[in-house]
Amino acid sequence: MPSIPTGVRGARFTGWGTALGHRLVTNDDLAATIDTNDQWIRERTGIERRHVGGTNAELSSASGAAALAMAGVDPLSVDALVLATTTPDRAVPATSSTVQARLGLRCGAFDVNAACSGFVYALVNAHGLVAMGAERVLLIGTDILSRITDWDDRNTAVLFADGSGAALLEAGPGQLLGWDLDADGTLEEILYCDHGGFIQMNGKEVFKRAVRIMVDSAQKSMKHAGVTADQVSLIVPHQANIRIVQAACDRLDIPMDRAAMCIQDTGNTSSASIPLALFRAADEGRIARGDLVLMVGFGAGMTAASAIIEWGGH
Ligand code: UT7
Repeated sequence: MPSIPTGVRGARFTGWGTALGHRLVTNDDLAATIDTNDQWIRERTGIERRHVGGTNAELSSASGAAALAMAGVDPLSVDALVLATTTPDRAVPATSSTVQARLGLRCGAFDVNAACSGFVYALVNAHGLVAMGAERVLLIGTDILSRITDWDDRNTAVLFADGSGAALLEAGPGQLLGWDLDADGTLEEILYCDHGGFIQMNGKEVFKRAVRIMVDSAQKSMKHAGVTADQVSLIVPHQANIRIVQAACDRLDIPMDRAAMCIQDTGNTSSASIPLALFRAADEGRIARGDLVLMVGFGAGMTAASAIIEWGGH
């Protein structure tokens, strides 16, 4: 992957928002219908509860509206909408079109499907749009995994849920210092979902590969940014399984108290998981201007993506 050329026009987040599925589902709720229990789910995944329900356009519009309100910008001044998602409301059109109309935007709108790496893929593309002249890009990551989860399958039902996170990216002091996008299509069969079907997953295989590709991608981004692990204030990993995050952090030499986690409350929300964890940390005051934040995701495809940003731009 190339490094960022010098002199390229930069951008930084000026507003953000999040939304969760309408209904809270605890581990005990799941244990009432499938052969599982709260202790197993907590110990093996780190998940305690999750939220399900709502359409992609509903959750995307809620998080997107909050991001626009926080930034205080006129929807008509947004130049592009990029929605990362694996679960659009319809096959056609892209859900970003529905969200564009609901938010009163008048701009290009498109979906990006890179599974759980989607938000970071969209983030890098959104920075590219700013480099090409866009002033404001609304970036959203949303998934409604409850729609493609077999609620009778304990291998997957305990993991997946619904959520959305959005950010307004505005031209200005650049925040993106390094990035990496990756995919290995030969691994398609270990995690996939056919049209009209449910998620099929070889959990052990995904676990093993996930740790490896997260570490590899994160190291590439750090190298491009000229940043070492000890300089990273916060790592924001894809929220798939707390044990995957622990293993990756261990190999990257980043202590877990510098990891942004929300999996206990959200489960795995795919494209939404990184923005949900990132903006929760920001709302809790865990990120200060100038801090270096490492986002790193992995997902079906098997995709991996990472980015180093300097909070507030440099
Ligand atoms: O966004 C990417 C999406 N996917 C992932 O990130 C998935 C990555 N993989 C994982 O997170 C883990 O592999 C799982 C959470 C899916 C499974 O955890 P594990 O530690 O790999 O468990 P396992 O499959 O080795 O199963 C251990 C035991 C088995 O019983 P036996 O054979 O030891 O008697 C399973 O049958 O746990 C049993 N088991 C369960 N027990 C209670 C499997 N699922 C459950 C369950 N509740 N939900």
